[in-house]
Amino acid sequence: MTADQFKKEFGIIGKSKEIRDLVDIAMQVAPSDISILIYGESGVGKEIFAQAIHGYSNRADKSLVSVNCGAIPEGILESELFGHKKGAFTGAIENRKGYFEVADGGTLFLDEIAEMPLTTQVKLLRVIENKEFMRIGAETVTKVDVRIIAATNKDLQYEVDAKRFREDLYFRLKAVTLSIPPLRKRKSDISELVQYFISNYTAENKIVAPKITQESLDYLREFNWPGNIRELKNTIESAIALSRNGILDLSIFKNLLKKDENDSNNKNLPVFLKRSQEELDRELLYRALFEIKKDIMELKDILLKKNEVVYPPENNSANVVQPLEQAEKEAIKIALEHTRGNKRNAAKLLKISERTLYRKIIEYGLKNES
Ligand SMILES: Nc1ncnc2c1ncn2[C@@H]1O[C@H](COP(=O)(O)OP(=O)(O)O)[C@@H](O)[C@H]1O
Ligand SMILES: [Mg+2]
Repeated sequence: MTADQFKKEFGIIGKSKEIRDLVDIAMQVAPSDISILIYGESGVGKEIFAQAIHGYSNRADKSLVSVNCGAIPEGILESELFGHKKGAFTGAIENRKGYFEVADGGTLFLDEIAEMPLTTQVKLLRVIENKEFMRIGAETVTKVDVRIIAATNKDLQYEVDAKRFREDLYFRLKAVTLSIPPLRKRKSDISELVQYFISNYTAENKIVAPKITQESLDYLREFNWPGNIRELKNTIESAIALSRNGILDLSIFKNLLKKDENDSNNKNLPVFLKRSQEELDRELLYRALFEIKKDIMELKDILLKKNEVVYPPENNSANVVQPLEQAEKEAIKIALEHTRGNKRNAAKLLKISERTLYRKIIEYGLKNES
């Protein structure tokens, strides 16, 4: 297979030197069983390269199993990966296969590997080295033949220095590293990607492909694409949906990308435009918190008056302050109510990771209330 055929087969677009080099490395390492690390910002194409490597390997007819280590709560990740024996812990009501066994003979794609807890990293290294592991609660080892492709947008050397990532695992993974540069560093690929996304989207939706103006293309090439190719793809698809007379003109893109432009170039101007649902939700949340705080103050007032106790004697502001833990618990409760128990959205509102939220829900015993 030539590099061009490889790109066509796996839907990889781009003629920049960066993409050509990456394709060469991918084709070269795909057939072996060596572990691979793919590094790059969100949306640069880490997963598409993982799929291409698997698809070009001798394992192509077996499964490629994708696991996002950052999205699975810490306490659960290990049993998801390695499976468990019936009765290994509360809730383990039957024997269960983990992803390693599901991927046996194939490839396991571990996305956001930097989020993997240290204890799980130990076990991962052991599987890579010995091709065996134990299901949680099991006394015998299970053998597997799995190729590992890991991905991250974090600097793993930094994570190692911060003692959040095991050095031995890092050495093992980094031997073959594919580092995918952000889209803003390979602007020559933008036009081809734009044409590709236009024809894909219009073919899928059985509509006539609109024409894009040169002005628009220039604008797209100048944009810095913080969300990389994923953002470009979404922008093109939205633009097509908004287009009239079969033309994708500059105004459409200016409107679609206004928020980002404001963020990056006009930091000093107040932005009243286009507030996202998330921002609106957050404001609602703050308001709700504020109301609660007021209620608490009033209640305290009433109680204090009833008992005719003046407390605290001097510093009145201490009355208003509630313990941080209490405030946190309240905020989580409100966020969960507001999102009707959707933890992912609630975590976004609270600006914490899903995993942290999950831990706090257990910590505060909010589980049954949500
Ligand atoms: N070189 C490329 N050519 C065509 N499409 C691409 C390319 N790189 C990424 N994409 C597309 O962009 C989107 C994001 O890519 P993905 O691999 O999920 O990024 P990441 O895993 O780095 O976040 C996907 O829809 C993917 O198909
Ligand atoms: Mg991804």
